[in-house]
Amino acid sequence: MESAKWSQLWLDYKKCKDSVEKIAIEVLGFDRAHRVIDSGVKELKLALGRIFGAEVSEGNGAADPFAVKIVKDSAVAKEGYELVSSASEIRITASDENGALYGIFAAIRKLSCGVAKEEISEKAAPSNPLRMMNHWDNMDGSIERGYSGNSFFFVDNEIVVDERTVDYARFMASIGINGIVINNVNVKDAASYLITDRYFAKVKELSEVFADYGIRLYLSLNFASPIELGGLELCDPLDESVINWWKDKVKEVYDKLPLLGGFLVKADSEGRPGPFTYGRTQADGANMLGDVIKPYGGIIIWRCFVYNCTQDWRDYKTDRARAGYDYFKNLDGQYHDNVILQIKNGPMDFQIREPISPLLGGLTKTNQMLEVQIAQEYTGHQIDLCYLVPMFKEVLDFKTYCQKDNDTIADVVSGRAFGNSLAGMAAVINTGNDFNWTGNYLAAANLYGFGRLSYNTELSSEEIAREWIKMTFSLEIVDEDMLTDMLLRSREIYEKYTSPLGIGWMVTPNGHYGPSVDGYEYSRWGTYHRADHLGIGVDRTDKGTGYAQQYYKENAEVYNDPKKCPDNLVLFFHHLPYTWKLQSGKTVIQHIYDTHFEGYAEAKEIAANWEKLEGKIPSDMYNNVHHRFEMQLANAREWCDQVNSYFYRKSGIEDELHREIY
Ligand code: GCU
Repeated sequence: MESAKWSQLWLDYKKCKDSVEKIAIEVLGFDRAHRVIDSGVKELKLALGRIFGAEVSEGNGAADPFAVKIVKDSAVAKEGYELVSSASEIRITASDENGALYGIFAAIRKLSCGVAKEEISEKAAPSNPLRMMNHWDNMDGSIERGYSGNSFFFVDNEIVVDERTVDYARFMASIGINGIVINNVNVKDAASYLITDRYFAKVKELSEVFADYGIRLYLSLNFASPIELGGLELCDPLDESVINWWKDKVKEVYDKLPLLGGFLVKADSEGRPGPFTYGRTQADGANMLGDVIKPYGGIIIWRCFVYNCTQDWRDYKTDRARAGYDYFKNLDGQYHDNVILQIKNGPMDFQIREPISPLLGGLTKTNQMLEVQIAQEYTGHQIDLCYLVPMFKEVLDFKTYCQKDNDTIADVVSGRAFGNSLAGMAAVINTGNDFNWTGNYLAAANLYGFGRLSYNTELSSEEIAREWIKMTFSLEIVDEDMLTDMLLRSREIYEKYTSPLGIGWMVTPNGHYGPSVDGYEYSRWGTYHRADHLGIGVDRTDKGTGYAQQYYKENAEVYNDPKKCPDNLVLFFHHLPYTWKLQSGKTVIQHIYDTHFEGYAEAKEIAANWEKLEGKIPSDMYNNVHHRFEMQLANAREWCDQVNSYFYRKSGIEDELHREIY
């Protein structure tokens, strides 16, 4: 493998103990020439050859000792599969090509995880209809919030389609991803808009590579395109000349890109243009585009990350956290049926701990999907270890009380709660053109984990971690246990040494790595955390900004009361004295001191655990992660010192344990 140009991640098939001389692949009921079936067969050949050292052929395998059969059966759920095996065959049954491909990858996963070929059995159907990755890749090759090199799609304003693109599509299909937005939501510089002649041929090529693996390509759009590209004077969604411009443009786009899934739009946020400029609503904007794209079967994914970053919050009523709900809830039911709202997991911005957005499930008559971020913007830049699947599980398991049953976020975003067929999960992706794709080898667990979870929200964080470890490394069980434990603890460790009790931020402005207690970038109006010599936290109760009231009553009551509010969110919802006793029995200030010391100590512990793997994994992997742990420890130390000394000086309260606070 020394000639490898990039890592094969979890598809780096390794030889198992069981050797098989000959294996036959048979396709029954599916069109063998279908592009997705063809990809599946190719993958099987590669995997079976490597795993069993077998000679793999196609056709009737009667003469061969072992067969893998891909069988069509309309009784299997859409994009689902069934696996059964016996001494003579593995049978993969599906009703459609994507299901067959996922079944093939599932069989390979089982084999890679050490399941004997005679003992394969699984029945699966996707929890979410849409399972998407959002790239924040810019046309110049840079990546917004990218921590693993540059874009592998774009170099110097040109599109690259090569073997790496194919491998990328394989990886995504292997974890069940069926939609990918290739460009940043912040679409700037009209000369490089992808909906122009300059790029159609290459985008088409890319869309075909994706289609080979059952993936639809989507594009981010600039709402002001009629001005920037069309030379119009406005982009008012209700203006006829604007609508006509879009009709012509979208027709041209679909003539050139017949496989396009649709558009993702960030409007009226952080400097992006949108319908507000013309006194129109978000629904006006989204529906106009929805209507225009409808004849082509496309969809509009409209982001709810809409807020005014220049707002003055000194009146203690204005609150960024309220914005999504305030702008979108009252339009519930007005969105057209090919429009879907994409909602970040929390009301702020991908902090290490936030409450769940009340818009999810707050909307009951609108298509909605969840947006999370596996790019570790606020969670350690793929330097610090932070396995995010436990956070995503918490989000999915959250009970909204939006109706009697079927009311968790998983129910809402899968479409089960309100019967939507446009529903699902999207992640801001953490990849780049680094050899190992994700900067830190261990950050690939988040890439893998998001995909697996979006396909099956019932999987546990541990199951996903173990699968990924088994497929990536070849470790003895004690080492697998240790690495699993490191991953599972990492999010809480990161939380401990960074911002406490749900307050968030305290991170360097703009860069978002390392501590800066007062450093919220929109802090023109004062500190975000509102700490003074007596206390800290943002009052979001009915007496404060009223944000807590955006939840259904059961949750609102809990969040509104500092005695009931979970400790880990209490400063998100309340301004409390440093001497306030948490439910844990500790005071706020003692909690801050303790968690920061613990976080640093535990980071040291997991870094030391990594050293036990030296010699047991390839040295480039070992060194890559080892180096990052060194940086993580420096970061954790810095956070611990800065946060503790800031609050010691502010409060004047001694640490009960008299540890050294600098
Ligand atoms: C965050 C992030 C930006 C990004 C934005 C978004 O604010 O820092 O880089 O553009 O989220 O989600 O649109």
